[in-house]
Formats: sequence, C-alpha cells, structure tokens
Amino acid sequence: MSKKPKFQRPTGMRDILPSEQPYFEKVYRTVAEVAQFYGFDRIDTPIAEDLELYERGTGSGTDIVEKQMYTMKTRGGDALALRPEFTPGIVRAYNEHGMLNLPQPVKLYTLGPLFRYEHPQAGRYRQFHQVDLEVFGEESAAIDAQIIQIFYTILKELKFTHLIIEVNSIGDAQCRPYYKKVLVNYLRPRQNSLCADCRRRTRENPLRVLDCKEEKCQRVKAQAPQILDHLCEACKTHFKSLLEFLDEADLPYHLDPYLVRGLDYYTKTVFEIFSETAVQLREAAPRGASLAPLERGEETVQRNALVGGGRYDNLVRLLGGKDVPATGAAAGVERIISLMKEKGFPAAEVPGSKVFLAQLGDLPKKKSLKLLEELRIAKISIAESLGRDSLRTQLARADKLNVQYTLILGQREVLDGTIIIRKMDTGEQQIVKIEKVVDELKKRLKK
Ligand code: HAM
Repeated sequence: MSKKPKFQRPTGMRDILPSEQPYFEKVYRTVAEVAQFYGFDRIDTPIAEDLELYERGTGSGTDIVEKQMYTMKTRGGDALALRPEFTPGIVRAYNEHGMLNLPQPVKLYTLGPLFRYEHPQAGRYRQFHQVDLEVFGEESAAIDAQIIQIFYTILKELKFTHLIIEVNSIGDAQCRPYYKKVLVNYLRPRQNSLCADCRRRTRENPLRVLDCKEEKCQRVKAQAPQILDHLCEACKTHFKSLLEFLDEADLPYHLDPYLVRGLDYYTKTVFEIFSETAVQLREAAPRGASLAPLERGEETVQRNALVGGGRYDNLVRLLGGKDVPATGAAAGVERIISLMKEKGFPAAEVPGSKVFLAQLGDLPKKKSLKLLEELRIAKISIAESLGRDSLRTQLARADKLNVQYTLILGQREVLDGTIIIRKMDTGEQQIVKIEKVVDELKKRLKK
C-alpha cells in the first residue's frame, strides 16, 4: 500500500490562521486610514512581473536579484519573477498608465504578499507582507520627511512606543562615484580582513560592504570613510533640509553613516525604523548623534527593521519613463505583528454576535435557513449551530458566545408560525410571531 502523502506548507511560508487575522486587519486598517488622510490612493499591481523589471530596478547586483528571486518561465516563454518588493512594479504602473500626466505629486499605497528566497529565521520569511507608500513627482526633502512621519505615525497608532529612525544620505550620480573611489581606496589594502563576499563587493558594489553583517567586516567598516563627508552641495542641502524637517516634526532620529540599504535605486535619503531593543541600546546617545554600528551579537532579531525606504530619483527614467523624482518606503507586516503580539498591543476587535438561533428538528432546521437570511438582510449578526440537534448543546454554545438573546425554533413553533426569544441573563422567554421577530430583535438590541 502506498503511504499517505503528508503535505506541509513550503519552507519559509506561513498560514495566516483565523486567530491571527485580527492583527493583519488592524495593521491594514490603520495603514489605509493614515495613508488616505495624507492623500494616498490605493494601487494593486500583479504578483508577478517581467524578471527584467527587477534586474534593472532592484538591481542585478543586489542579494534580492542575485539570490532571492522566485523566477519562472511561462508556457508562452515569458521570463517572470514573483515580486520580491513593490517599488519597481509601481514605477512600471506609473509609466505604463501615463500617471505623469496627472497632477503631481502622485501618491500611491499598496499592500500584499511578496516573495524572497531567504534563509528563514525569526522575522524573515520567504512569503511575507508589506505595506508600501510611494510618492512621484516631488523632489523636496519635505516629502522624504513626510514618508518617515507617516510610517512613524502608523506604528504609534498601533501602540509602538520606543521607535528610532535611522537616516543617512547615499548621495547621487554627482557625488557617489567619487565616494566609491575613496571607499575602494580604503578597502583595497584591507582585503585580507574582509569576508569573501566583501572582497567581491569591493570590486562590484563597494557600498554594500558597509551593509555586511560579518564580524570581521564590521571592524573594517568602523574606520571606513563616511559618505556624509563626501556629499555634493545639492545632496548636502537636501540632507540638511531633511534633518530640519525631522527636527521640526519632533521625530527621534539618529544618523547612521553606514546605512546603505540593500537595493540599488536609492539616491540621497535612505532610512529605516526600528523598535525597542535596538532603541534601548542607543538611548544613551544624544539625538541626531552619529552612531557606531551595532555589535554583532545584537544582530538578527533585534536589528530587524520594521520599515525601510528612501528617495529614488532615477528609477522612473531607468524603467523607461521621464525624469521624475520619487520617494517611498515599506513596512514588514509580519515583523510588526510579531512585536504587537509580544507586547500585548491590541488587534482589531472582532464583533461578536448578540443573538443565537437554536433549532429543534428537521422542519425548524429548514425554516432556519430563510430566517437567518432575513436577519442578515436586517444586519443582525447571529450565530447558530445548524448541524447540532440537542437543545442543551446549542444553549451551551449560546452561553459560551455570551449572546444576549437566543431564538428557539421547535416543531411546535414552526406549526404555530411563532418563535421563542430567550433573554440569556434572566432566562425570561417570550413567544412572538415569526414575521415579527426581526422587528422585535431590532427593538431589543437598540436598548
Ligand atoms: P526592504 O528594506 O527590502 O525595502 O523591505 C522593507 C521591509 O520589509 C523591511 O524593513 C522588513 O520589515 C520587511 N521585510 C523585508 N524582507 C522580509 C522578509 N524576508 N521577511 C519578513 N519581512 C521582510 C523594500 O522592499 C523597498 N521596496 C522599500 C521602498 C519603497 N523603498 C522605496 N519605496
């Protein structure tokens, strides 16, 4: 006999069980409320896009494109990838739908699942969810600050208290090439002190060395020249202006001169938002102070960013559009929810039913279907156990659900065209005509 197949969910992918849904709902609802207040419209893009969109957009030298994409060849021969992030897809939609012709800035938000072939661990999944905000057609640092403020507000609304924003500028096409040279000149004589990946990065993408989590590379990085000392005038002015906006909005930020982010498209502003432990480690440091990178032991769980984003002034053009400045960010929903649970922050309330319908026998069961539909139309939420027969079991369930009233429909009531309304706290019962029960319940529930 062949063995029964035992199916399990794919590695790094989770079921979102009913008990967790109220958390997702709370996060999504809060994001929608805050984003809509700030003038963002919702957009949804396909879950798969042309592979090349990410190779060009996210960047072919990034870990995401090099190591983490779920790619496929369709039967028609197209090379697609499951989206590892939202930004390139939204830029593609902005270009494809001629949103440049709309009044600028165009502000869009989205949410949903993303796919990255990661090494699964706490807060790192292969299918995860983000909420993402993007603004097109605005070059002022005020918008960068506003994006930061919006995500900060969303987390505050979800009851997060100790949050820290890390900001940096990674320059632009004007100043970054020069900084890269300075950095490579610093890294080259230190190749033996770097991990194998960083030796390669020194040649291919030196900024990414600053992002490396290897202990030996951290030591090299600690002495590395900082990009903030090499910004051109335009980038310097933009960054200064960003910090002024953050100060004015009372947002608690730190400069992290080594924050470079793992995606290729950023220009000028980059930022991440962290919670709690990472914050406590930094509380002693003065506001706005430049911080040494975290020690290796503090990595993984504690260092998981809740939000990451920045400005990307060249991406719209790179993906076939006009020269349109843009900025945006995304938050990891699973990471937010995991902390909400850990800290006992509230999820969305699931409204319980105030009425239970108990039925006894075949005929009442048949009548119940119609009655339930009438109650739904009247917007009276009602629970039932249509599969059960014993009154005792049904009443026990009504008790457990803590309903105010139970409707009891027996054989005799059906023949008489009546139904019993039982008030659960006193046990008091009243017989009413079945066609009057909706009105009677409305009256009672209003009190
Ligand atoms: P990202 O930093 O790659 O940026 O992702 C943003 C957030 O998504 C992270 O801070 C984290 O909370 C969450 N996240 C990322 N990977 C995982 C994972 N494997 N498991 C669970 N959560 C994860 C972006 O994706 C950019 N598109 C953000 C952006 C929008 N920049 C400009 N506009």
